[in-house]
Amino acid sequence: MLNKAQIIDILKDNSINEELFQKADKIRKEKVGDNVHLRGLIEFSNICKRSCKYCGLRSADKFIDRYRILKDEIVKYAKHAVDMGYKTLVLQSGEDDYYTQERMVDIIKGIKKLDVALTLSIGERSFEDYKAFKDAGADRYLIRIETTDRNLYKKLHPNMSFDNRIRCLKDLGTLGYEVGTGCLVGLPEQSVESLADDILFFKEINADMVGIGPFIPHPHTPLKDAATGSFTMALKVMALTRIMLPDINIPATTAMETLNPNGRIIALQSGANVVMPNVTTTDYRAKYEIYPNKICITENPDKCFNCIGAKIKSIGRNISTTYGFSHNKG
Ligand code: 5AD
Ligand code: FES
Repeated sequence: MLNKAQIIDILKDNSINEELFQKADKIRKEKVGDNVHLRGLIEFSNICKRSCKYCGLRSADKFIDRYRILKDEIVKYAKHAVDMGYKTLVLQSGEDDYYTQERMVDIIKGIKKLDVALTLSIGERSFEDYKAFKDAGADRYLIRIETTDRNLYKKLHPNMSFDNRIRCLKDLGTLGYEVGTGCLVGLPEQSVESLADDILFFKEINADMVGIGPFIPHPHTPLKDAATGSFTMALKVMALTRIMLPDINIPATTAMETLNPNGRIIALQSGANVVMPNVTTTDYRAKYEIYPNKICITENPDKCFNCIGAKIKSIGRNISTTYGFSHNKG
């Protein structure tokens, strides 16, 4: 295992990148194998009460066309995805209070009838809500810490609390969810030292999944003039995460593909073992604009499934036919 100083050295040294990516790829192969897990993503509401300074869904944005998908339509997308072959679905939204505990439980139960693993990614909720969702059948939960630099976290997340985010991650672990977290790479004022802390944090909380993506400035946000995060740096943080947490699930993120047309395949060859294709239709895709130039906004679910499936096979990997639970049960 690497210590903080070693992680920092690797992040700063670009002469050893290929070696780093190859090492992460080797560990991925040894620990989680050649299967790639596809998780079908349903972005069911772009309404959000928060105002994270980097995010295109922030409540202060008056340009965005807001939508909510209700239970029957969510279940329709879910059913189509399961029919295509997805073994896991991910329900993601802004922090939208319309989806009360009761409504979420109803949606979760509707999806769990389809015999599929279910991940939620709907932000900060109470212990009681998390418990009710778990009891209703949710298996996993994603909530990125975004950055472990407390000062930066405070600047980027008005009226939010770093400690509450940690509380959420702890509660989810206590309740027996597989817990996913992650960070943004290339935020303004983010240091290499803090990226090393992020990686150590994933280890400390014993994450089952870690998603890492480059920051991409959105033109309607306060960070519109900030520099775009580096694809290579995001890839390095991801590869180091694989080395430090060898048996977890790591997605090749959509934000990586936004910055590099082959980004997901490069990520799959540098430590990643998961891809999360969108399984909704074009009515919604463009409106879920967390950052600009998101991929696949004019595609349909079948097209994405076939496209990513062909790419995965082209690099000699297979599409997993299992639920893809985490190997990290330690
Ligand atoms: N660029 C890249 N990723 C972003 N996210 C939010 N805004 C941006 C942006 N401008 C990420 C956050 C969040 C995830 C759903 O999307 O890390 O957790
Ligand atoms: Fe959507 Fe390739 S994954 S078109």
